[in-house]
Amino acid sequence: MTTTAVNPFLEGNFAPVHSEIIDDELTVIGSLPSDLSGMFVRNGPNPQFPPIGQYHWFDGDGMLHGVRIKDGKASYLNRYVQTRGFKTERDEGRAIWTGILGPSGPDNPYGSFKNVANTALTWHAGKFLALWEGGAPHAIQLPSLETVGEYTYNGKLECSFTAHPKIDPVTGEMMFIGYSMFARPFLQYSIVSPEGELLRTVPIDLPVGVMMHDFAITEHYTIFMDLPVTFRLERMQRGEPGLMFEPTRASRFGILPRHGDNSSIRWFESPACYVFHTLNAYESDDEVVLVACRMNSTTVLMSDQTPIETEGDIARLYRWRFNLNTGTVREELLDERASEFPRVNEQLLGRPMRYGYAALFCAPPMPLIEGLIKYDFSNGNSQTHEFGAGRYGGEAVFVPRSGATAEDDGWLMTFVHDEGSGTSELVVVNAQDVTACPVARVIMPQRVPYGFHGAWVCEEQLSSMM
Ligand SMILES: [Fe+2]
Repeated sequence: MTTTAVNPFLEGNFAPVHSEIIDDELTVIGSLPSDLSGMFVRNGPNPQFPPIGQYHWFDGDGMLHGVRIKDGKASYLNRYVQTRGFKTERDEGRAIWTGILGPSGPDNPYGSFKNVANTALTWHAGKFLALWEGGAPHAIQLPSLETVGEYTYNGKLECSFTAHPKIDPVTGEMMFIGYSMFARPFLQYSIVSPEGELLRTVPIDLPVGVMMHDFAITEHYTIFMDLPVTFRLERMQRGEPGLMFEPTRASRFGILPRHGDNSSIRWFESPACYVFHTLNAYESDDEVVLVACRMNSTTVLMSDQTPIETEGDIARLYRWRFNLNTGTVREELLDERASEFPRVNEQLLGRPMRYGYAALFCAPPMPLIEGLIKYDFSNGNSQTHEFGAGRYGGEAVFVPRSGATAEDDGWLMTFVHDEGSGTSELVVVNAQDVTACPVARVIMPQRVPYGFHGAWVCEEQLSSMM
């Protein structure tokens, strides 16, 4: 007799929900600030059908959960991102594609991979985009969360599109990267004008294909992270995973002027590590400073069961100082605690910031988030908002108060799930008083599975779409 192993990412509040619903009258515990107006949307994996082959948390079809907030009231809706692959599987009534642990080959008659659009969201130049780093973005209509379709910048998009593009808050330009683990160019770098025109894409030389989930910008520079999670075909031919962490290989950080190209890049080396997400970067005298969540190694991409298998997998907040004069690197641990999903007030992206925010992780093995951390980089202090026993949340999105002048004048928002009662809520925390109870807990009409990245769409952006 054989037993089927349970995949923990298909159980409990990692399991998908299948109802797409609308609820216009949500219960609010506490009160939503009257000057908080807009829409919180969060992306995440939500497999439409039972997976074929090994399932990894990164594989599920993208589902958007949106909470519209206005005049102290809130409404909810959720919608799948209707990608081509999603619609093909829906029409066939079954899963057709395997995931990252055993990718479908070119012999799959439906195509070799599915763009699941499940990772993150961004607003730029009047477009709201659902993102997945292996393919094109999908344009999403608001507030309906209906999928408009793949967005390719009038056919100019020639590479994949990171889940974490960077929008300069002063110039309005958007920078993005696209990487391929399998073929040169392994990395491409693009700039979109404030009006939404894809201006240029330049190849960046890397010695081998790597997974590059994020990057960073400063006022004048762009920073790439060539970290040693490499893809090697010869490993696959030996029956090993194609994508693996190589502990003997250095981490390389490439810094180039924003409008530069491969000839103007400077590479800095530091010990092997992996970084999924950057918090921010900025310039300080001769230095480019990067703050990000660093792991000593990673097995996250190699197993479908327990993603955090070793001490090396625990992400902690670090700061790197790259000296453009001397070529030296200083790497410094900022917090011993396990934290990830770092965010900043995006009005200070690429500029020196006083505050940063991150999700506080529980002990392994599952990626459960027990609270939110607010960092004060001016004095090295931090404060923590705890969700409470048996309650786990997600990335904290900073929502600035309209007209705010103080950097932390606003709110932190995330979905929290109560494992005891099985209910989910959107918590709204005063970012200037994070240790206090949430100012509002908006009770969701159905479970919101644990997911990835969220975005706040302000009233002005929202009204431009309606
Ligand atoms: Fe991400």
